[in-house]
Amino acid sequence: MASIALAAIRVAVNPYSSIFTNNNNFRSISYITSISSSSSYYYYSPPRQHIRMAHAIAKATLGLTHPALIDHPKISFAAKETDLLQWKGDILAVGVTEKDMTKDKNSKFQNPILEKLDSKLGGLLSEVSVEEDFAGKTGQSTVIRVSDLGPKRVSLIGLGKPTGPSTSGFRAFGELVASAAKASQANNVAVALASVEGLTLEQKLATASAIAKGTLLGTHEDNRFKSESKKPSLKSVDFFGLGSGPELEKKLKYAEDVCSGVILGKELTNAPANVLTPQVLAEEAEKVAAAYSDVFTAKILDTEQCKELKMGSYLGVAAASANPPKFIHLCYKPPSGPVKTKLAIVGKGLTFDSGGYNIKTGPGCSIELMKFDMGGSAAVLGAAKALGQIKPSGVEVHFIVAACENMISGTGMRPGDILTASNGKTIEVNNTDAEGRLTLADALVYACNQGVDKIVDLATLTGACVVALGPSIAGIFTPNDELSKEVVAASEVAGEKLWRLPMEESYWESMKSGVADMVNTGGRQGGSITAALFLKQFVDEKVQWLHIDMAGPVWNDKKKAATGFAIPTLVEWVQSNSSSK
Ligand code: BES
Ligand code: MN
Ligand code: ZN
Repeated sequence: MASIALAAIRVAVNPYSSIFTNNNNFRSISYITSISSSSSYYYYSPPRQHIRMAHAIAKATLGLTHPALIDHPKISFAAKETDLLQWKGDILAVGVTEKDMTKDKNSKFQNPILEKLDSKLGGLLSEVSVEEDFAGKTGQSTVIRVSDLGPKRVSLIGLGKPTGPSTSGFRAFGELVASAAKASQANNVAVALASVEGLTLEQKLATASAIAKGTLLGTHEDNRFKSESKKPSLKSVDFFGLGSGPELEKKLKYAEDVCSGVILGKELTNAPANVLTPQVLAEEAEKVAAAYSDVFTAKILDTEQCKELKMGSYLGVAAASANPPKFIHLCYKPPSGPVKTKLAIVGKGLTFDSGGYNIKTGPGCSIELMKFDMGGSAAVLGAAKALGQIKPSGVEVHFIVAACENMISGTGMRPGDILTASNGKTIEVNNTDAEGRLTLADALVYACNQGVDKIVDLATLTGACVVALGPSIAGIFTPNDELSKEVVAASEVAGEKLWRLPMEESYWESMKSGVADMVNTGGRQGGSITAALFLKQFVDEKVQWLHIDMAGPVWNDKKKAATGFAIPTLVEWVQSNSSSK
């Protein structure tokens, strides 16, 4: 019986269909028993009498949850050079600094744009700003319903200090535009800044692109697992005074490509572990490669193939799981021209982290959130998707994920077991919950074997990093000052926050084992640093390497959703290594 069920599953799972993008919605279909070539399948739910193995259940039908296929927001952006006050539409959103909000002794705005707008509105703007104590501070916003004017609503959005915000501040501006649009079901919005005089063309373009990113990502809501949801209303955004022509178009196209990667990353991370198994993650990777087959090739290694490569560290983690591990390797090659630099991006891909025998217990252990423990791999695949569209020249990029679950069973690794990694080093597992580094060990050895010049790895690796840097800053670790500068510069352009922490070699003392080459955890103190020192054992010294611990920023607690963190930075980093820049 079991073999019948498994054979059927193999037929029904189409590697190019996906739970994330498709045109059909099979949510209400629980048993798909016939196969038609015109349809794509996400799941095969075997008839009840065929369910014998935990394997088959976990693989395809646990909880009978079938994500709905919801279109991603398509917003058209345009540059307008007409008079702002002539614009007709739903919301006119104006970004204002605290300085823009200053008024003269007659309570008139000194800023000419605000003054013109205010006089058209018969002084309503200055009245509301006083009533609502709106001073243009960061995060402040106000919306006024008006009549007899081009726009139905005027919104002022605070930009803070007179120097204006950084890229991340303009992204936040875009998010406020998206929420204002949602609140009033707006279809179209015009965006302008009250003062643009001090900005260079390059700054204007970067501002428009950051606002576009914020608007796109703010409009996207992940409703795939809700039984009912509304489509977002926002369809178009017109930019005033932030550049125009091919330069702006290029920037906006880049912003859209990055956002499509971020949305994939968010959706992968939001998907629960019963839906997003290592197998499904591998299928998603294959789908990215198939969508941009002019630049990508994909290789997925199964348990046997990983055994041949002697990946004992990774396979030790996977050993307790009914859902088998999948080692994912996508390779990007530019469409034409020579390759000057070879890069690898490696992501932790724990589709669930129970902790193993050192099970996560007690309040605050966040076991129910451990579906996000593949956030590093989501960043890898999100960046791959964006780069498949951008197609930078001069760089080869390897995208690598050793995907698996960290579960508990009689076949799993025990605390005290010794694992042997693919570089021959032995590891005494003194804590099964420090599993991410065990999977990354073999992934990093594999990355080095690709002959790359530089590696960036990303992982939701340690709770200690969240304690150190809080929820919105990722820790970075590298022995290489140049690479650190390069990645930090990329993060600043992308509007994401990274902070370099030291790789204090003397702390390696706590990672020594009596019986093996090392243990996998060194106690509570400096937990993110000892984790980074552990990873270093698996990186060839000739290869430049940087590790990003994104355990904090992977998740937004307030929104109860994934952030897609690091994707914009990774794309920017690859771009900075390419010859297209
Ligand atoms: N996935 C966790 C890290 C984590 C914890 C991410 C909380 C986000 C929020 C990782 O596998 C883990 O369990 N790390 C342990 C390491 C410890 C056993 C040395 C930790 O941080 O507690
Ligand atoms: Mn863990
Ligand atoms: Zn983990």
